[in-house]
Amino acid sequence: EGKRDLTGRKVLITAGGTREPLDPVRFIANRSSGKMGYALATEAVRRGGQVVLVSGPVELAPPPGLAEFIRVERAEEMAEAVLSRAPEMDVIIKAAAVADFRPVQVAEQKVKKGDGDWVLHLQKNPDILAILGARKRPGQVLVGFAAETHDLLANGAEKARRKGADFIVANDVSRPGSGFGSDTNEVTFIFPDGATISWPLLSKQEVAARIFDQIVQLLGEEE
Ligand code: PMT
Repeated sequence: EGKRDLTGRKVLITAGGTREPLDPVRFIANRSSGKMGYALATEAVRRGGQVVLVSGPVELAPPPGLAEFIRVERAEEMAEAVLSRAPEMDVIIKAAAVADFRPVQVAEQKVKKGDGDWVLHLQKNPDILAILGARKRPGQVLVGFAAETHDLLANGAEKARRKGADFIVANDVSRPGSGFGSDTNEVTFIFPDGATISWPLLSKQEVAARIFDQIVQLLGEEE
């Protein structure tokens, strides 16, 4: 039943948000539920892929049939899990909302209220997608996401080029029913040359199917 067009393909998907600890009880996080990434993993398994899912902390059960499930918290842990497995992958999709910044210092003990304010100093996390793009081997398909609240198309094309992705799935996260947390998403595929394909509001499962239709086409062109 259905397409088995990922048979024999190794597919790595990242999902969910990362957590950047401040002290043993506090962290900086974001609103990613993992639904988009888990829908992609479900679709890839259904189509016969050998699927590795690297997930931040989310409230979803991993889909059955995965080749590997790796749970991570911090962006640096996600980077390690993804980059160590990337060379053998045919397809990599970065649906995770990776924290761009982490606290410079992580307190070993819980920070007390004390008297004054607590000023945070944040430093940049590694950009996993950009590293993957720089290391991409011929035949490998790399797909990024772009969560934007404005200038979606201009930012997406620039992001695809700069990060070496075959295409970027851009979602306007300020739109109702789209982006973080919802069961639906309204996305535009943006290619490095500026070409775009826009989809109507669809369930995240349907968005996942459209993404793999595009990926399978790209895999075919590489051969
Ligand atoms: O999880 P859901 O609730 O279903 O929500 C889905 C989603 C909105 C999280 C998803 O559709 C989405 O847009 N994911 C990417 C969110 C994001 O971090 O966008 P960005 O524009 O900040 O990053 C661009 C790309 O670079 C992404 O592919 C991201 O995974 C990647 N990135 C970003 C920062 C970083 N340090 N390393 C990265 O690899």
